Amino acid sequence: MAGPIKRLRQNAKQYKIVRDCHAALVAAESYACDASRFLRKSGMVRPSSLPVLEAQITMDYHRVEKGLTLPNPNPWFGRETITRLVVNCLEYNGHSNADSTILHGAVGALQAYAGTFSDEPCDWWRDLAPQVHILSTSILGEGVAGGTEPFTGAPPESSRWDFSEFARTRSSVRNFAPKPVDAQIIRNAIRTAQFTPSVCNRQPTRVRIFERGHYADRILMTQNGNRGFGNTASHVLLLSSDLSAFVTPGERNQGFIDGGMFAMTLIYALHDQGVSSCCLNWSAPRRQDRRLRRVVALPNHEVVIMMIAIGFPADGAVVTVSPTREFARVVLDPATDIGSGKS
Ligand SMILES: Cc1cc2nc3c(=O)[nH]c(=O)nc-3n(C[C@H](O)[C@H](O)[C@H](O)COP(=O)(O)O)c2cc1C
Repeated sequence: MAGPIKRLRQNAKQYKIVRDCHAALVAAESYACDASRFLRKSGMVRPSSLPVLEAQITMDYHRVEKGLTLPNPNPWFGRETITRLVVNCLEYNGHSNADSTILHGAVGALQAYAGTFSDEPCDWWRDLAPQVHILSTSILGEGVAGGTEPFTGAPPESSRWDFSEFARTRSSVRNFAPKPVDAQIIRNAIRTAQFTPSVCNRQPTRVRIFERGHYADRILMTQNGNRGFGNTASHVLLLSSDLSAFVTPGERNQGFIDGGMFAMTLIYALHDQGVSSCCLNWSAPRRQDRRLRRVVALPNHEVVIMMIAIGFPADGAVVTVSPTREFARVVLDPATDIGSGKS
């Protein structure tokens, strides 16, 4: 009896070695592909392209705005940042397809900055001020001026709904009704999701909306977690992140963080309007990612965050209980970790 069991164990061990080797190769290939994409397509290596200029301007004017919100901003702080911001804005404003919302944001921040410290003289700002004035008068198109505003805080308790209760009523739905979701509902939810925080307000997340049908089905075919329900979804949303927004090696994973946060707001904003959803992971190795890119013409400077299947829940739809982990396993006591870090 010991013989066959031993042989089975040996076979299982050999299969595991083969599977582990294969997984290691796929991981190496996928990492290499990600690194290559970041090295070729991120904002780190295309400094003069328009989207990267936008990212740089947004980052810099956000630094200005942010500085003004501190308890005691240093008068005329950030000379280098501000000089670069003005130079970049002038260059960007010369492009025929410059986005006026970015320029209005930047100029508003610069004007708020100058206004804050206007009582104290500053030589270097005196040289820049005329350029900022030229910019402010030459922007074509609309936009909200950046700067600061008083924090109004949460709405009064009487008009506030119970977020804790609301969050607990959301569940991933995997059984959708035939009724399609109105495009305006989706657009409203995306508009709300745009208020999600992102690194230096660079807002790298992009959304593509696919209606139920042949094309959506082809996209769903490239993902392996929607079998049995994906085709019942009213729409499939494809969330991606624009790597142009990221300008340092340390930001290589930032798109996934910002994109994940955006996704959560979007899911709640849909839920708030009665629309259910199920995230569909894009934990895809290189080959699977290429398959999707053959169906959707994604530019090479975008990486996929996830898909989201959305729709009204079918009558009688059931959802998983999905018990949450024990609180004490989530909130850890830092005292037990202090000083024991190994790297
Ligand atoms: C990034 C992400 C990817 C997911 N991918 C899938 C998927 O491919 N298929 C699926 O059925 N559920 C997917 N889910 C849903 C999770 O299984 C679900 O959120 C989790 O079990 C908790 O359940 P709840 O959402 O109902 O609270 C995904 C969730 C997240 C956040």
